[in-house]
Amino acid sequence: MVIGKPLFTPEQIQERVKALAEEITRDYAGKEILAVGILKGAFMFFSDLVRQIRVPITVDFIIASSYVKTQTTGEVKVYYDVREPLEGKNVLLIEDIVDTGITLNFIRERILQRLPESLKICAFLDKKERRIVDVPIDYKGFVIPNEYVVGYGLDYNNKYRNLPYIAIFKKSMNL
Ligand code: IMP
Ligand code: MG
Repeated sequence: MVIGKPLFTPEQIQERVKALAEEITRDYAGKEILAVGILKGAFMFFSDLVRQIRVPITVDFIIASSYVKTQTTGEVKVYYDVREPLEGKNVLLIEDIVDTGITLNFIRERILQRLPESLKICAFLDKKERRIVDVPIDYKGFVIPNEYVVGYGLDYNNKYRNLPYIAIFKKSMNL
């Protein structure tokens, strides 16, 4: 198991997060946001992002997963659901990475059933080539190639989440 050199350094990540937060702050001027982080992967991005958003925010989380190792199972399990009332709220869903789109689409539809005033999606990474379900991403950090990445909250078997950068993960030395 080998971690390649950083695809995005901590500096590049922070610069992008700051720009996203500024865009969100502008778009939501005069409103309040209910930021919903999708755990576990989004925990780092979520905390960096909300710290830089300059409109009133409440936070909640969803713990959901559709992944076993590096294979998408297509099944989404929800282990913890948003407890805040959603009716009339401006919900901003915050996700680490959109791959097939199955997870986010499932969560998006589940939230829409609870009649929020608005629902927007912010994803740190977009692995566009792999998309199976088309899901609208209103704010995105970076588009990445079809490679498995770890770090900045993203894992392989629940490891490497603490790396402060994003790196390509390879199973052999042939990088
Ligand atoms: P999707 O349902 O296929 O879009 O998968 C999305 C979820 O799979 C993300 O929320 C991640 O938790 C996980 N995932 C997808 N690609 C990667 C990756 O390259 N590294 C780590 N986790 C990933
Ligand atoms: Mg995730």
